[in-house]
Amino acid sequence: MKFTLEAKDPGSKARAGFIETDHGIIETPIFMPVGTAGTVKAVHQRELHDDIQAQIILGNTYHLYLRPGLDIIGRAGGLHAFNGWDKPILTDSGGYQVYSLAGTGRKINEAGVVFKSHIDGGVHTFTPENVMDIQRTIGADIIMAFDECTPYPCDFSYARQSMEMTHRWLTRCCERFDSTTPLYGHNQTLFPIVQGSVYKDLRKQSAEYIASCDREGNAIGGLSVGEPAEIMYELTEVVCDILPENKPRYLMGVGTPANILECIALGVDMFDCVMPTRNARNGMIFTTEGVINIRNEKWKDDFSAIDAGLGGYVSTFYSKAYLRHLIKSDEMLGAQIASVHNLTFYLWLVRSAREKIKEGNFVSWKREIEKKINQRL
Ligand code: GUN
Repeated sequence: MKFTLEAKDPGSKARAGFIETDHGIIETPIFMPVGTAGTVKAVHQRELHDDIQAQIILGNTYHLYLRPGLDIIGRAGGLHAFNGWDKPILTDSGGYQVYSLAGTGRKINEAGVVFKSHIDGGVHTFTPENVMDIQRTIGADIIMAFDECTPYPCDFSYARQSMEMTHRWLTRCCERFDSTTPLYGHNQTLFPIVQGSVYKDLRKQSAEYIASCDREGNAIGGLSVGEPAEIMYELTEVVCDILPENKPRYLMGVGTPANILECIALGVDMFDCVMPTRNARNGMIFTTEGVINIRNEKWKDDFSAIDAGLGGYVSTFYSKAYLRHLIKSDEMLGAQIASVHNLTFYLWLVRSAREKIKEGNFVSWKREIEKKINQRL
């Protein structure tokens, strides 16, 4: 993997660059659609490629390990061969799913995490070592270190101990990763994850440690877990200022379009979030004019395009009234149209940000576009 910085915005800390992987180039800043179980829910690979213009998608170790399981993915020749997506893939490590499984009897200790499958209740163990092995078998281009995502709120003492364990787990991840080789002929790279909850001094300590590990890219975890947005921005800035400039920075699980613009301005290069797809299925539609709740009565006879300004097939071909009817009727096509549309919007947003950074007028563009896209229609 190779990261090249192309431009720095004069009015903020935003940057434009590109990442070269064996499955192609990722232009940054980038948004990565979430494909937890090897599929971006309700979206075909052809739509991801042609309409949405996605450059990289996410998969999840926890879900893929439980179902279909490593035997099937391995025999398919890895996730790229299995799901037919031949561009870059990033897999999350399961650290976040373990966090989400709080209250289901999962046990975290120095060795790793013992948890129960959400599918059949079977007991499994994740360790830094086996999570590296699993991600070797899945075969993503970028794989994530096994970490503990601390909940919010979280007291200082727990946050410090958890961060220190995440750092020790990272050493074990790096040792295992560096002593194994890719299985499918393309390279893989390991990103470590900064933790430290909402505590600035812990975040600084974690960012310094992660930077010292000198991997090819770095991630920021444990944010967007319920803390106020202002705190998330403050900590993101503290961490970005410490992480090396010549490596991509990935802010995990973020966020709304406003969050993404704000964090691009702080120097983040990569984002992922379930919001555009999950909220699409519930009728929340992001447009270049503002946010729509398509279930509202006011759209029932609005026969205008979903978003004429955005362009793209589904956003211009289908009307708001028709999409409302589909979503209200729980028709599968509603989820499909809304998901493709919202992801097209998110990819348009980061592509536009990238262009503006290269032109040197990101800040003024951001100010103008925020006024529009943040309003509720
Ligand atoms: N996704 C969102 N936040 C996190 C995090 O802190 N860790 C991991 N592994 N994934 C995440």
